[in-house]
Amino acid sequence: MSNISNNERESIHGLWSSRLTFILAVTGSAIGLGNIWKFPYVAGANGGGAFVLVYLICILVIGFPIMVSEILLGRKGRRNPITSMQLLGKEEAGSQSWKIVGFIGLFAGFLILSYYSVIAGWTLHYFTLSVTGGFGELDTNQVNLLFSELTSSILTQAIFHTFFMVITVIIIARGIKNGLEKAVKIMMPALLFIMVILLIYSITQGDFAKGVDFLLKPDFSKITAESILAAMGQAFFTLSLGMGCIVMYGAYLPKNESIVKTSLTIIFCDTLIALLAGLVIFPIVFDNNLAPTDGPGLIFLTLPLAFSDITGGMLFGSLFFILLGFAAITSAISLLEPSVAWMIETQNVQRSTSAIIIGSVIWLLGFLTILSFNDLSEFTFWKGTLFDNFDYLASNILLPISGLLFTIFASWFMTRSSSRSELSDVSPIVYAIWKFLARVVAPIGVIIIFLNAINIF
Ligand code: TRP
Repeated sequence: MSNISNNERESIHGLWSSRLTFILAVTGSAIGLGNIWKFPYVAGANGGGAFVLVYLICILVIGFPIMVSEILLGRKGRRNPITSMQLLGKEEAGSQSWKIVGFIGLFAGFLILSYYSVIAGWTLHYFTLSVTGGFGELDTNQVNLLFSELTSSILTQAIFHTFFMVITVIIIARGIKNGLEKAVKIMMPALLFIMVILLIYSITQGDFAKGVDFLLKPDFSKITAESILAAMGQAFFTLSLGMGCIVMYGAYLPKNESIVKTSLTIIFCDTLIALLAGLVIFPIVFDNNLAPTDGPGLIFLTLPLAFSDITGGMLFGSLFFILLGFAAITSAISLLEPSVAWMIETQNVQRSTSAIIIGSVIWLLGFLTILSFNDLSEFTFWKGTLFDNFDYLASNILLPISGLLFTIFASWFMTRSSSRSELSDVSPIVYAIWKFLARVVAPIGVIIIFLNAINIF
């Protein structure tokens, strides 16, 4: 049972300065490489429209209730995800073992950030290519060459990966408030602006009709257990769910802010950017005889073609890749913050020490991803290269499992008075809808998708 002192638990890292900052921070976490780099290529590899439909359903009926659950757990716990689950587990359900959920999430975060940083490095490299005029007059062969030059070079990837991790660590070391809030306010709208310019390009220059068809017209014969699992994994990944970073950000949310409304806003923005990215990429893919199944290189093969074509391409190309790099940073910090906060809270070390230690471990792990594209590209098992396996394990398995456990805890094990007091601004009906989705729909959805996928694991 909750008591007065629990209600007054405070975050030792401070709080967001306003509701808007919280929305920006979570949107910053949600919008990133997942929307612009991963969504198009995963959708492409899984057949397009049918995948997108399943993805949208997953966002609404699984993603939404889990996001609400994670924020409310964080705000109630006011600690890193592991400690919050331990405290709440004890108070609400008499068992500290719930902290395991936090561990699974943090482990997934390690895996994800290790490759996320490498891909973010690719965008920074493309930024440097663009500012130095590297995208002038490219054809399909040349973009392929540019991309394979990058992935075959361990050094180039290592340089940019290191650079990206260093920036992420510095931001985390300085605490979230200084700088980041302001940066996100300018960068997110700017990114949206460039996406719209690119959309105009692909409407006018690309094979827009074919792109739209591919992305939005479901061909149900393409739905397989594998693609459904991938769609669910993508829904978790893009909304930053399951890892505990939403729990962590929720821990810094002032008490009087509406969890349901903020969640809806965040989900809307995130989905909008992903769909927009798809609408930009696929028309260019079809117009240039590239394959939608081209994999992780997809945006690096398509967008340079667009930029080499349009007036001001050098400017827009540079802006695009640098903004994508920033979008990746606002996501990367949310991947790092929970483990850093955990170390500060439980191991009694300073923020900067903790950021450096954890950042270094993840940085090292990143080399396995770099090598997956060259020296170790032949070293494949289970789902492919090491990179493929990290991504598959984290996105399609770990995130859904811990997300599921977060939501089961919040809806089944927390007392009604505790969860209701976190969601006190909404009407009883909205509360009941959340509870039904969180208790029944999301868990059954996740479990069915898992069972369905069992023979492809
Ligand atoms: N959602 C981010 C993106 O789409 C990535 C991300 C940030 C993430 N935090 C996460 C993914 C936590 C999974 C879990 O790029």
